[in-house]
Amino acid sequence: MTIGSAQYSAIDLFAGAGGLSLGAGRAGLRVVAAAEFDADALATFAGLHADDSPELLEGDINRRSFERFHGEVDVVIGGPPCQPYSHGGLRMGVTDSRDGIPAFIRAVEEIRPKAFLMENVPGLAVGSARKVLDQTVAAMRELGYVVEHRVLRAADFGVSQRRQRLFIQGVLDGLPHWPRPTHGEGTQSPWVAAASLLDPINPIGEPNLSSVTYARTPDLRPSPWDGHLFNGGGRPINPDGLAPTLLASMGGNKTPWLDAAELVPAYHAHLRSGGKPHSGPVEGARRITVQEAALLQGFPVETEWFGRRSSQYRQIGNAVPVALAAAAVQGLVTAVSVQNDSVAA
Ligand SMILES: C[S@@+](CC[C@H](N)C(=O)[O-])C[C@H]1O[C@@H](n2cnc3c(N)ncnc32)[C@H](O)[C@@H]1O
Repeated sequence: MTIGSAQYSAIDLFAGAGGLSLGAGRAGLRVVAAAEFDADALATFAGLHADDSPELLEGDINRRSFERFHGEVDVVIGGPPCQPYSHGGLRMGVTDSRDGIPAFIRAVEEIRPKAFLMENVPGLAVGSARKVLDQTVAAMRELGYVVEHRVLRAADFGVSQRRQRLFIQGVLDGLPHWPRPTHGEGTQSPWVAAASLLDPINPIGEPNLSSVTYARTPDLRPSPWDGHLFNGGGRPINPDGLAPTLLASMGGNKTPWLDAAELVPAYHAHLRSGGKPHSGPVEGARRITVQEAALLQGFPVETEWFGRRSSQYRQIGNAVPVALAAAAVQGLVTAVSVQNDSVAA
C-alpha cells in the first residue's frame, strides 16, 4: 500500500499497544519511534512491531523533548488522552497533566514534520470541549500547517464496531487528504457483521466469567440491541450488526457480550408487549474475551497481550481500530506525497 516508492518515517506519540501504528504500517509508513508511559502497552507494542524494531521511548511525554527528531521523521501521529472536563472544564483541561494535547502540539513544534495526524474522541468537536479542538487547530495553524478535522466511522472502513473517531490532520506545504469509505452505503461492500468475526458458542482465548444479569428496571428502545435491558455497561452484540464501541474500561461488566441462546430479540419483544422484567443471570450470555475484543479492533489473532487482564482489555479499548487507522494514515500519506511531487515539479 506504499504510495509511489516513498516510505515516510513516523513517530507515534501516546502509542498504546499500537493500533494506530499497525494501521500506519499498512498505509506505508515506517514507524521509527513510539512514546508511551504504560509498560504493558509498550511491551505489547514492541511485540507487534518486532520486525521494524522502532525506538521505544518509555516515560512521560510531558517531560520529554522531541528536538532530536527534527529532520529525522517525516510525520507525527498519535492519540493523546484528553480530559477537558475532569476538573471543571477547559481552564483545567489545558493545564491538567493528563491532557496530552499540549504535549502533542509541542512535539509537532519541535519536530516540524511534513504532516501530522492526531486522533481523539468525537466529543472533542461538540459542547464545551469544542474550545479545546478549536484552540488545538489554531495552535497548529500558527505553526504553519494547513489543518482540517473530521470524524470517521470505523464501520465505513470494514471494522465491525460502532466506534467513531475524530482525526485532526495538518500538512505543512499542501492540503489534507481524507479517505473515502470502503464499506456501507454508496460502496460495493456492506458493513461487516459481528457474526463474521465472533462465534457465540466457541470463545477464542480464556473465557471471561463476569456474569450478565437482567436489569430490574429495563430501559426499552426500538432496537433490542440498544437501551438497557441488562445490567452493566457491556451491551449485547447484535450478530447481524456492529458491535458496540469497545471501551478502555472493559474487563468486568463493561465488556460487551454474545447471546448464545439467542434470547435478546425475544426478551425485547416480551417487554415491548408489556411483559414483566426477568431477574437473575441471562442464560447463554458470555462476555467477549481479550482475543475477541482484539479481533473486533483488527489486531492479529496471534498478538501477545502483556499485563493483567484489565490492562490487556484497556490497551485494546484504547486503540484505534487497525483498518480505520490504515485508512486515515493513507489519507495523510497521499497528502504528503502530493506535497512532495509538487515540490519536485
Ligand atoms: C488513546 S491511548 C492511544 C492508543 C493508540 N494510539 C492505539 O491506537 O493503540 C492513549 C495512550 O497514551 C498513554 N499516555 C497517557 N498519558 C501519557 C503521558 N503523559 N506520557 C506517555 N504516555 C501517555 C496511555 O497510557 C495510553 O496508552
